[in-house]
Amino acid sequence: AALKRYQFDIVVKNVSRLCHAKPIVTVNGRYPGPTIYAREGDHVIINVTNHAQYNMHGLKQFRNGWADGPAYITQCPIRSGNSYTYVFNVTGQRGTLWWHAHILWLRATVYGALVIMPSKGVSFPFPQPAEEAELILGEWWNSDVEEIVKQGNKLGLPPSMSDAHTINGKPGPLFPCSEKHTYAIEVQRGKTYLLRIINAALNDELFFAIAGHNMTVVEIDAVYIKPFTTASLLIAPGQTTNVLVRADRSPGRYFMATRPFNDAPIPVDNKTATAILQYRGVPTTITPLLPFLPAPNDSAFADSYNANLRSLNSGNVPLEVDRHLFYTIGLGSNPCQSCLNGTRLAASLNNISFMMPKVGLLQAHYFNLSGVFRLDFPDRPPTAFNYTGAPLTANLGTLLGTRLSRLAFNSTVELVLQDTNLLTVESHPFHLHGYNFFVVGRGIGNFNPAKDPAKFNLVDPPERNTVGVPTGGWTAIRFRADNPGVWFMHCHLELHTMWGLKMAFVVENGNGPEESILPPPKDLPPC
Ligand code: C2O
Repeated sequence: AALKRYQFDIVVKNVSRLCHAKPIVTVNGRYPGPTIYAREGDHVIINVTNHAQYNMHGLKQFRNGWADGPAYITQCPIRSGNSYTYVFNVTGQRGTLWWHAHILWLRATVYGALVIMPSKGVSFPFPQPAEEAELILGEWWNSDVEEIVKQGNKLGLPPSMSDAHTINGKPGPLFPCSEKHTYAIEVQRGKTYLLRIINAALNDELFFAIAGHNMTVVEIDAVYIKPFTTASLLIAPGQTTNVLVRADRSPGRYFMATRPFNDAPIPVDNKTATAILQYRGVPTTITPLLPFLPAPNDSAFADSYNANLRSLNSGNVPLEVDRHLFYTIGLGSNPCQSCLNGTRLAASLNNISFMMPKVGLLQAHYFNLSGVFRLDFPDRPPTAFNYTGAPLTANLGTLLGTRLSRLAFNSTVELVLQDTNLLTVESHPFHLHGYNFFVVGRGIGNFNPAKDPAKFNLVDPPERNTVGVPTGGWTAIRFRADNPGVWFMHCHLELHTMWGLKMAFVVENGNGPEESILPPPKDLPPC
């Protein structure tokens, strides 16, 4: 085990894309930010010094929510001119993860890869690639993102869509003024490459494909899966996917392309970002071909792709469940006095739109501060209804609250996330901090507690930290609550998070210090 140290300076830098220059927040002046490299077992220290509000978060932190990052959940923002040191051990995880700012929409530009190699002497459970590369998929706005969000909030409308999608911060030659800084990977014919693909987009699930080349998927969210070959892949914000690609085509230039998957009626976003797979020695004047990508609303592809994901090792999927949770996902609206038309869009779990506290929840829990949150998040919705079939109901007005759910230490939990047709149906990538969970089931329509559990995969379900809840359908996950702390769960579409599609779990301490939250670090930022 080694000690890895990084210094992250948060600085504003002028960057130009799509013929527009604007100042953006960056780490060390880089966009995307620097990659953190570690090995399983390493101790990592990242000192972050701020010139803008900034929080970061990356991997599963055992008993150590203090290094998890979400603003007002596990810490208060790092004030301008101040520093905070994120200290953590990389245990029980290897593969690709990522770090990003976790306040407002700052992660639009403040993000980077986190690459964890297996411990020394341990190899990958697949053929050793000749080389590897990180591909971070993102979004670009020509205007100031925080301004766009503010405007949207004032009008009670969604903020405007991004102006481009990007690969490693670059939109690629299908966008104006983008040709000269297109991202390219140089490959040699006959060799195999490991691509670490990360979806850092704010609001889009994405398809990804490489012209002329199949991909073998070997890992998702830093967990190995049974390898399978596919021409395209689907990746939601928050997720990572590692693939092997063999450079076995006639030497040339091939586009790698990404475009949104969106089966909701609005918004229609059809922008394609590209990068280039460049065979060594091939002149760069040759125009690459575009790959075939599934249609933007191809939910059948999404279903079959997801069905292919099976963990390589069966892991410890809980077979018995202590606590059954059923959360409905609703998009609706709330009265809003400061908004121009008197209402604001809202999103809710079990009809509750989460309100951000003014004090970090982890501190409030650790120090027993009263009045910051309530522990009465309901285990199921207030009333049962036909979740995906009923017409709009009076259910649209959601309740506001900072309400959390308490989980006993080491209890096993099953959570069914049920999409509803309140206002719009749309798929939602749900992310749980502090845990990997097992995705045991998924279906379209209403979850049927009498029939569906019999079809759960309890043998080799994919283990991950972010999972898509299909449009007009449900997803069931299981996990063991063995990591004490306060852990945020939210839709990783930033638009929905900001409308309140989030909540947090309080996982109680077990017995003794080994099963309890670590004490907070001395430099934890004050609120
Ligand atoms: Cu990657 Cu709470 O987010």
